[in-house]
Amino acid sequence: MEPKAELHKAYINLMQAPDRQARAQAANELNTIALNFAATFEDADQPDAGKALERDHIALSRSGRNIGLLSDELLASFNRLLPWAAMTVDNKGRSVGNAWSSTKRTYYNALIDPRLRDFDRIWPLEGKHVLEVGCFEGIHTLAALLLGAARVTGVDGRIENILKTMARLWAYDQTTELLLWDLEKEVPNTIPEHWDMLHHIGVLYHLTNPVEHLDVVLPRTRGALMLDTHVALDDAKAKFTYTVGNQTYAYQKHIEAGIEINPFAGLSDHAKWLRTEDLIAICQRHGFKTVNLIADRAERNGRRVLIHAFR
Ligand SMILES: C[S@@+](CC[C@H](N)C(=O)[O-])C[C@H]1O[C@@H](n2cnc3c(N)ncnc32)[C@H](O)[C@@H]1O
Repeated sequence: MEPKAELHKAYINLMQAPDRQARAQAANELNTIALNFAATFEDADQPDAGKALERDHIALSRSGRNIGLLSDELLASFNRLLPWAAMTVDNKGRSVGNAWSSTKRTYYNALIDPRLRDFDRIWPLEGKHVLEVGCFEGIHTLAALLLGAARVTGVDGRIENILKTMARLWAYDQTTELLLWDLEKEVPNTIPEHWDMLHHIGVLYHLTNPVEHLDVVLPRTRGALMLDTHVALDDAKAKFTYTVGNQTYAYQKHIEAGIEINPFAGLSDHAKWLRTEDLIAICQRHGFKTVNLIADRAERNGRRVLIHAFR
């Protein structure tokens, strides 16, 4: 039985125990199950610095001097100063940043995410200008720089994420252009006219205006797009519609956690999750000749796709 269901069943048994003896036995069972349940969380949540060091050793050989020079006390201050919600490792196996909670983002994020590494093999970032929306805490920003991008423009709608990105880049000896832009609003005039690659992971599914947003950023993308986003599960779930220009789009409505709740969430009360075929059609409409659906997976929060598109 699934651990959560087992826990719930033990609790119900306790509540329904008919007499004292049955109650004592049910309480014992509940205690054992609860301890096992907690232990599985603890096991799952232990960040493994050794594995992270092995995985990230090439990236760490090219970066991380600044953070590596900090004493443990100074690193502890660095980690306390900002409201971190994700961790990477330094060259001594120490945490840079913090987990968001005891169960979320408790692992060491790869310094170069496999999705970006795979994309780079097909379409090398070296010498290119990358626009990264939703830079969060700078983990992918750093990866794009380490892969040799000539210019990386990181964009986020949260000022604390801009600051955390700046700080994490400093830790790994990098610096770049970081701009504040709430993608629900007008394009600030600080945003570049064009870029070569649009890096778009984990952001579109936070927006109330995903089509309008893509209509703004895709024409400015001269070479390639990597888009990773949740989509509507199926036509039955995509029961709402909205119209942009003369085209009507079906979408699955997703209620957002709320601006203040966590640093990952969107900046509005809900988001529109589009259908995969509409995302592909939007890319094609903007002149991307090759649009590949690389992955289509069921995740805890819903269906999610990875798309590569090239002009
Ligand atoms: C789920 S996190 C993804 C972060 C990162 N791209 C990744 O893949 O790990 C979403 C990011 O998008 C940002 N974001 C959400 N809604 C936004 C909006 N309307 N405008 C700008 N940034 C937004 C959040 O602040 C956060 O940094």
